[in-house]
Amino acid sequence: MALSVDVLELTKHHGPRLAVAGVGAHLLYWMHGERNNKAVRAWLLSHLIVNVALLAFNLANTQPESWGISSWIRGLVTVSVLNTCFYGPLFASILIYRAFFHRLHRFPGPVALKVSKLAAAYSNIGKERDFERIWDLHKQYGDVVRTGPQELSVLSADAIDVIYGPSSRCTRAIWYDRLKASGDFSEDYAVFHMRNPVAHGKRRKALWDKAFNIRALKSYQPVVVQTTQRFLDALRQRTGQTLSGPDTMQLLSYDLMGIIGWGYSFNNIEKWELNPALHFVKHVTAGQRIISQAPWLMSLLVNLPGADSPLRPYGSWIQARIREKLRLLKTPGQGRETADAMSKMMPAMVNLSESALYSEGELMVIAGGDTTSSTMSAVIFHLARNPSVQRKLQAELDEAAQCHDQKDDEVSNAEPEASYYRSISSLPYLNACINESLRLQPPVPGEIPRKTPLEGIHIPLPASSSSSSPTSVFIPGDTIISVPVLPVQRDPRNYVHPEDFIPERWTDEKPELTLNKSAFMPFVGGAYTCAGKGLAYIEMRIVLAKLLERFEVKLADGEDGRRFLEETRDCHVAHLGDFRVVYEERR
Ligand code: HEM
Repeated sequence: MALSVDVLELTKHHGPRLAVAGVGAHLLYWMHGERNNKAVRAWLLSHLIVNVALLAFNLANTQPESWGISSWIRGLVTVSVLNTCFYGPLFASILIYRAFFHRLHRFPGPVALKVSKLAAAYSNIGKERDFERIWDLHKQYGDVVRTGPQELSVLSADAIDVIYGPSSRCTRAIWYDRLKASGDFSEDYAVFHMRNPVAHGKRRKALWDKAFNIRALKSYQPVVVQTTQRFLDALRQRTGQTLSGPDTMQLLSYDLMGIIGWGYSFNNIEKWELNPALHFVKHVTAGQRIISQAPWLMSLLVNLPGADSPLRPYGSWIQARIREKLRLLKTPGQGRETADAMSKMMPAMVNLSESALYSEGELMVIAGGDTTSSTMSAVIFHLARNPSVQRKLQAELDEAAQCHDQKDDEVSNAEPEASYYRSISSLPYLNACINESLRLQPPVPGEIPRKTPLEGIHIPLPASSSSSSPTSVFIPGDTIISVPVLPVQRDPRNYVHPEDFIPERWTDEKPELTLNKSAFMPFVGGAYTCAGKGLAYIEMRIVLAKLLERFEVKLADGEDGRRFLEETRDCHVAHLGDFRVVYEERR
């Protein structure tokens, strides 16, 4: 009874002042600009200090001899009441502002998402198909949907260039900082996390553009051909067996990235299992789309002890490789001319901070491993499901091989791998199968978030049947905006029969089935475009050409493709649902 009287007194006495402070904290601080991990941590720390001080002050006002359980309960209740008086109005102010007064309040979307992204995090639990969730929102609310307090999703192929194109004024959104715990966000991490366009451009030019320019790309071709050959020999020993489509491709693509990136094989092919250093690929991105919806939650989680434990074996592998490269670099005459990408980047990397060096190293295999493996798996899935398409591709490959064998000139003898690559690189149907898979199963299927410039931008909307519909819309500044990749690539306004695998839409056989080419955005574009696109096409063309020249692939008995089609998860990169296949050697 005495306690409840005290609580009432406390609320009456301090409540109004704390409520004003709470609303003030929102209006004067939280409402303005971005709050990065550092700000969230500083806030939480000061919150902790204030609460401990309050508790101590409360206990200090009690005689030490009566510091029993009741004094502690009284102290804790007092701290909780004061917190409620502060945070209650603060959160109420945030909710009311976001729902009714925010600069995005006129855009349609569910109220739960307008006020917080917790509802989005909740919907992703269990399913993690964020691209599907966003797509459903577009079906319900139209082409521009408010998907969060500061977020808009735009289902418009014509908006892609304005948001992601070479002359776009949009920059990367705060999401890219959230993946990292601490440090200097502008310099201490890899290009993928760099949001400042100038700093990003400088780093990209100094490192990645060196490792993936035309000359460098040509130097990787022999490695891809030879590694693929080893993979096919290993696969030959498993013909007739039921294999997992995605797991099999992962063995090859990570070995390729180990060798091309670092000059080191993970030996996945020889052992026919993923190297233990790579086990993170199964765990690390799970839950991404849940925690990334609530930035403050992500800030907290990435700081928890052990949060990086799935990445540790891979981290040790990277650290060992970096030490080795640095040692080679300091040894006169060594390390400069090696064919791998990191050796090409290393001379420009020595001035980076230790954490930036590590982060760039970590990115090499992560960015290139899953993306290519997931596209090659998708091609295999569609070919296994569509035998007539497979036969047509094999006919094209057989014809190219015949022409290649007949040539037998001096150049092809001196550079057999380069000559092989030249013979297949522009085969129309091979490229069409790859592009059609990238359209249907883009490795980055959901939102790629960008921030609009302070002055805002006008974005074009898809043409509508009604003449009264607006043709463009103004998006205010400081808005997080994205075009969802998979939905726009399956929008019937952009592709006829959008759900079907029809490679001919990319050749001169059925170009009319592609209504809007600008809707194709698997690598995005502009300043932050994929640095490994050239390498990805080299890998995908060589692997698929060599594989299908030699093998026929079928879906295993009882495989209906449901898991692949319905259980592929969106963890920023796609984690493919499994499907089972059988390879047989062609006669
Ligand atoms: C089919 C294969 C691939 C696809 C579809 C793909 C797609 C993408 C996309 C969409 C982005 C932008 C992500 C964002 O801004 O959030 C990206 C960035 C990047 N990709 Fe790829 N990628 C592929 C293969 C590769 C390969 C083989 C590498 C080689 C290491 C690579 C290296 C990178 C890097 C370094 C970035 C960051 C670029 C920057 O921030 O400037 N990617 N990729």
